[in-house]
Amino acid sequence: MADISSLFVTRLYRAQLNALAPQAVDYDELAASCLSIAEDDEAGQDWCEENGYPGYTSYASLTDLGWRFPIFAAVEKALDAHVAAFADEVEFDLGEGKLVLEDLWINILPEGGTHSSHLHPHSVISGTTYVSMPTGTSAIKFEDPRFAMMMAAPPRRKGGREDLRSFVYVTPEVGDVMLWESWLRHEVPMNTAEDERISVSFNYKWV
Ligand SMILES: [Fe+2]
Repeated sequence: MADISSLFVTRLYRAQLNALAPQAVDYDELAASCLSIAEDDEAGQDWCEENGYPGYTSYASLTDLGWRFPIFAAVEKALDAHVAAFADEVEFDLGEGKLVLEDLWINILPEGGTHSSHLHPHSVISGTTYVSMPTGTSAIKFEDPRFAMMMAAPPRRKGGREDLRSFVYVTPEVGDVMLWESWLRHEVPMNTAEDERISVSFNYKWV
């Protein structure tokens, strides 16, 4: 048998947020908080409308959720613990520095809404925790970061090994947190469920 190794791997982290939370986060309360913040945030609603953003995001309007709302402070504490675990898993040498939360924002995606393919520049680790995932709602789709270099390569076999696929879909459950390195391109395909898909996303930077 040949000796074949895997090089330059892409790690994807998935856990229950509350598994490392110093103070457990109640996801029903978190969902209610997201909806009430969205309803009150007129600047955010205007931004979404002007920029053709389906549903609501607090990304451009509210930069201090953890300071304003205790439940978001609890989310942030738990995220710090998960990000530290993931940084260790990917063997980052942070030297004298540390990873700190840079942004954290709410996403409310209505039926028919999508979030097109993107990555998170200026950050090291990005991720999402899932607050409301109605039956049949969108997975998150990740793309092989080497895709742009594949040129004349044939496609991979359908149903093949997950770690050899060009695209991987993951369907998280409420209460899950997923983390990846910020250069990993991802998208949220169309929400075909009638109900809103609610999530909270974030970026960590190295300082
Ligand atoms: Fe994203």
